[in-house]
Amino acid sequence: MGFEIAEKLQALRISFGYFGVKGTAAVMLNKFLQTFKINAYNERYKKNIDRAFDSRFDVDTGGIIEQDQLDISEDRKKQAIQYQGTPTVNLGLALSKLSINYPDFLFIDIGAGKGRAIFMAARYSFKGIIGVELSEDLHKICEKNITSLKKGKLKCLNIKAVHQDAATFQFPNEPLVLYFFHPFNEEMFQEVLKNIGQSLERNNRQIIIMYYHPGFNNLIGEPEFLDKIDLGVADSYWEFYRSKTV
Ligand SMILES: C[S@@+](CC[C@H](N)C(=O)[O-])C[C@H]1O[C@@H](n2cnc3c(N)ncnc32)[C@H](O)[C@@H]1O
Repeated sequence: MGFEIAEKLQALRISFGYFGVKGTAAVMLNKFLQTFKINAYNERYKKNIDRAFDSRFDVDTGGIIEQDQLDISEDRKKQAIQYQGTPTVNLGLALSKLSINYPDFLFIDIGAGKGRAIFMAARYSFKGIIGVELSEDLHKICEKNITSLKKGKLKCLNIKAVHQDAATFQFPNEPLVLYFFHPFNEEMFQEVLKNIGQSLERNNRQIIIMYYHPGFNNLIGEPEFLDKIDLGVADSYWEFYRSKTV
């Protein structure tokens, strides 16, 4: 019971950090309605969250762009999922529960879009943060956001946007936290997982995968180089993995 209250207070603190007072009020109202099985996760809620985050950090990460509107090849459009910035405080909550020495790790968002999640991660003292994005339009917005970003509230200022296809991205030879907010389908995911496996074969090290998905359970499956882990985040849309090697 005491633990639950402590966790709720921590989520509240993280929410204030990301979304300020108004945004947190929207998050709390949403959670309250969910206890009555009312799904208030609607367009208005998303807009409130977008506005709250963007005005707090002086960036533009809001909106939804369907995959067929993205400036990427037709083949990649078939595998991609729409652009939407991470809408949950649970990324921060999960990051706070990683039990790692943050300055040892790089945080990489695969499919970074306009950069919402990399800016959220920058509240933790990672060694560096990289956002990998295939759409040039979104990548450019992300770069602009990095310039305008209010840095006073952040613990990591080593933030970089990379315009690249996730399939060809070479994972840096360092301990990594990899974040995926459901960027693409299983076919593409398997390609990226293969690269992660090969990277681990070359260099045995800690790689943590945080996968947030709106209902695509077990898409990562059970690769032999990963263990599924439980970070104790009470949200069924999250899956966490750690490399078996360390
Ligand atoms: C749901 S959005 C996530 C945005 C961001 N990670 C966040 O949480 O704020 C998914 C992103 O993945 C990108 N994406 C899709 N396929 C990709 C690929 N093959 N390589 C890199 N990025 C890709 C899309 O363009 C889109 O911006």
